[in-house]
Amino acid sequence: MQKWIMSGVLTIAVVMAIVLMFTLPGKEQVAEEEKPTMPEVTMDAAAAESTIKAQGCISCHGDQLQGAVGPNLQKIGSQLSAEEIYTIITKGKGGMPSFKDKLKAEEIANVAQWLAEKK
Ligand code: HEC
Repeated sequence: MQKWIMSGVLTIAVVMAIVLMFTLPGKEQVAEEEKPTMPEVTMDAAAAESTIKAQGCISCHGDQLQGAVGPNLQKIGSQLSAEEIYTIITKGKGGMPSFKDKLKAEEIANVAQWLAEKK
């Protein structure tokens, strides 16, 4: 009798584990949501410079990107890839605001590529 209960409990546990495996989002799915994909654009330096002026990036990062409230970005390309910069501008980070409602994905991608070339 006790054996029968034990195997019943075990069966239920196994079924629950299988159901959870399929219903919980996988690690990969979560990672993808956290990391937006950068659209491919041809870098336009003049457009990037006007975007960072118009969006107030320079008010926090300095007019020469030398840093102020935000960190210095003059050599940001040696630390971060365009994709990583794209994610930070899109989602924000700490004191850095998110720009996903202010800029088009392509504009963010252009600025990200422009910054990634600063090494
Ligand atoms: C309100 C001030 C503010 C504005 C506006 C702002 N930033 Fe930032 N930014 C920050 C701060 C503060 C950080 C540091 C965040 C952290 O690491 O916690 C940061 C971080 C960054 C980083 C990562 C730097 C690193 O060393 O990790 C990049 C790239 C960046 N900002 C680009 C931009 C761009 C491009 C814009 C305009 C579209 C912008 N920021 C606008 C404050 C700002």
